[in-house]
Amino acid sequence: MTPMDIPAALGRVLVIIPTYNERDNVEKIVGRVRAAVPAVDVLVVDDNSPDGTGELADAMAAADSQVKVMHRTAKDGLGAAYIAGFRWALERGYDVMVEMDADGSHQPEELPRLLTALQDADLVIGARYVSGGKTENWPLSRQLISRGGNTYVRLMLGTPLRDATAGYRAFRAATLEKIGLDGVNSRGYCFQIDLARRALRQGLRVVEVPVTFVERVHGTSKMSRDIVAEAMLNVTRWGVSDRMARLRGGRRR
Ligand code: GDD
Ligand code: MN
Repeated sequence: MTPMDIPAALGRVLVIIPTYNERDNVEKIVGRVRAAVPAVDVLVVDDNSPDGTGELADAMAAADSQVKVMHRTAKDGLGAAYIAGFRWALERGYDVMVEMDADGSHQPEELPRLLTALQDADLVIGARYVSGGKTENWPLSRQLISRGGNTYVRLMLGTPLRDATAGYRAFRAATLEKIGLDGVNSRGYCFQIDLARRALRQGLRVVEVPVTFVERVHGTSKMSRDIVAEAMLNVTRWGVSDRMARLRGGRRR
């Protein structure tokens, strides 16, 4: 694979990688990102992982000025970690923010495809459930939750997206500014659905490109029953309030 230059029109790109107990993954993923698209900066957002992930990230940052680390005090959810990372990036003038898991499920070698698509979009989602996309080595239980979740989102929210829960994404800074991060309080994985829906509601261009999601080899998923419950509850609430607003003939809220 030849390394990719960032399309000039996109400006400065920051890849944000949230971590919680990713000791066996963090160095490899950062190295792969830097190799695939050498011009990007990387921000690891670590929630004080007890396994020493934060210290490993610090050592990488000491050796590579394009690697940065944010240390947060306690595990506070994927959504909260990304929002902190987005604010950090906006304050420092980055033009594009990429979301990427630390465990190798989101392949850095596919990042050029997301960045290329972002030239004509406001938000690009690396999607598993579009033609050409797929999951590898995912247990049937996870496939069912994920497929079912996406179907529920489409029915409840009426979005056209095939993979609204996907966590491999590229945002323009202007997209995050328009969405307004202050109002986002989804803490777990439903944060992904929340941001996609807010972008669509703003009339922004949301484009899905196919990716191959590869299940992690090292460490464990942080998905939990609470996270699924928060997502179900929020999607239901959003769907019901959208319908009520339409019934009242008012503006969609
Ligand atoms: N800082 C921080 N704090 N990082 C976290 C936290 C947290 O509370 N929870 C999870 N992470 C990090 C993990 O360390 C990993 O790098 C990334 O977020 C994804 O976590 P996983 O636990 O590996 O997620 P998953 O594989 O179950 O879920 C993936 O697919 C979902 C859709 O099917 C993620 O990409 C989700 O975002 C996505 O919704
Ligand atoms: Mn994972």
